[in-house]
Amino acid sequence: MQTEAENTWDNEESRSPNSNSGNTLENTEPQASSLTKIKIIGGNPLYGTIPISGAKNCALKLMCATLLTGEDMYFENSPNSLRDMRSQRELLEYLGCKVEHEGSALTINAGDIQTYTAPYDIVRKMRGSILVLGPLLSRFGEAKVSLPGGCAIGTRPVDMHINGLEEMGATVILDEGYINAKAPAGGLQGAKILFPKVSVGATENLLMAATLANGTTVLANAAKEPEIVDLGECLIKMGAKISGLGTDTIRIEGVKSLNGTHHSVIPDRIETGTYIIAAGMAGGTIQLQNARIDTLSAVLGHLSQAGIEVTQSGNDIVVSREIERLNGVDIMTEPYPGFPTDMQAQFMALLTRAEGAGMVTETIFENRFMHVPELNRMGADITVQGNSAIVRGVEQLKGAEVMATDLRASVALVLAGLVAEGETTVNRIYHLERGYEDIVGKLGGVGANIYKA
Ligand code: EPU
Repeated sequence: MQTEAENTWDNEESRSPNSNSGNTLENTEPQASSLTKIKIIGGNPLYGTIPISGAKNCALKLMCATLLTGEDMYFENSPNSLRDMRSQRELLEYLGCKVEHEGSALTINAGDIQTYTAPYDIVRKMRGSILVLGPLLSRFGEAKVSLPGGCAIGTRPVDMHINGLEEMGATVILDEGYINAKAPAGGLQGAKILFPKVSVGATENLLMAATLANGTTVLANAAKEPEIVDLGECLIKMGAKISGLGTDTIRIEGVKSLNGTHHSVIPDRIETGTYIIAAGMAGGTIQLQNARIDTLSAVLGHLSQAGIEVTQSGNDIVVSREIERLNGVDIMTEPYPGFPTDMQAQFMALLTRAEGAGMVTETIFENRFMHVPELNRMGADITVQGNSAIVRGVEQLKGAEVMATDLRASVALVLAGLVAEGETTVNRIYHLERGYEDIVGKLGGVGANIYKA
């Protein structure tokens, strides 16, 4: 088993150029690797098999759930090599957890917590670390967590996390960039919390906090993402009493303590969807191993309209392109089960070469079109109007040197590179390494001409 002492990179979650944090795009690039670019020569169809990793946006939260018990937690299918996972391990170790990992196995013990403070230097790397707030407060009665601040895709406030904890009786003071939270004597109290807007993170933070609260908590207008269902199922194995997972009303009866358990992380639906689009754009037939089609229902309808056939075969998904040139299709991002914002950039890459036009409307984040100017530099024809973009398909994209400022925007450029004429260079690949395990190996393994430089 490896320990976490080798975590040395600097930062991977870029701040908006307009952010007040002082973390501009220029000063956040990690220096750890000398290979900072991906080069792709477009034009190869894809044939073969790609193994799908465990879901990043689930595994990060499962790691926070380990703070709710002093007993060992064992995870399988954990995407341990992702930068975001390393950031989360760094934070848990800072708090005093023992963390071990090997391959996709991960063991965490939070039996000897040393501090309830999640410092700015670690939280700034990855917003998912705000999810330690609920578990720490619930189990230990106090927590001090740095405010994560804005990021490249939007301002991303955490007001609903804080308001929910206050409704459970916590006293929360914001001071010098930190959330200082204290539970009332005797612990957090169950409450009826109505979220004014659907939030994945706020639902998860409050769900975890409520497991050890006194009495019953009801989360109304809760998020329904498969990652939340998986987190809830792990909490139930730990002894939590939860009903309504996957619906917009989750009910939690608080218990006195939770136990350790084994849990296998669900397959990453966004990684799955990304490779489905890769095969649809490049042509060929690929098999995605250990993937779940049911978590992608909103995307499948649009893929089918575009001309991509996707079928489940046991634990695998088989993808092939039905027609020579894909059709233009309109999409609008929405909370689950709607079209995921985390697939918007990839779908836009698909539309750049479609027959006809497609309209892309982003309703979750206010600044999630950063891939547009870069795709246009590759010859795409995209016009943004407010939170919508019209994508008029072109016959051919041309390889270019491009760069994006967040994870999904970066992968959209890789997808475009797969079909562009000539060479595409995608800079700042640390964004990709936050959320895609071995993307070069996986795409190279099915025939793409792709390498790190
Ligand atoms: N929001 C508030 N107040 C809050 C919380 C959220 O106004 O207290 C707003 C956000 O600014 C946003 C909307 O509510 O406009 C939805 O945000 P949500 O809380 O659902 O997002 P999140 O929990 O911060 C997670 C994923 C994102 C994914 C979104 C939406 C993780 C670590 N991150 O973020 O994933 O886009 O849900 O599905 O789970 C990615 O993987 O590339 C990524 C950005």
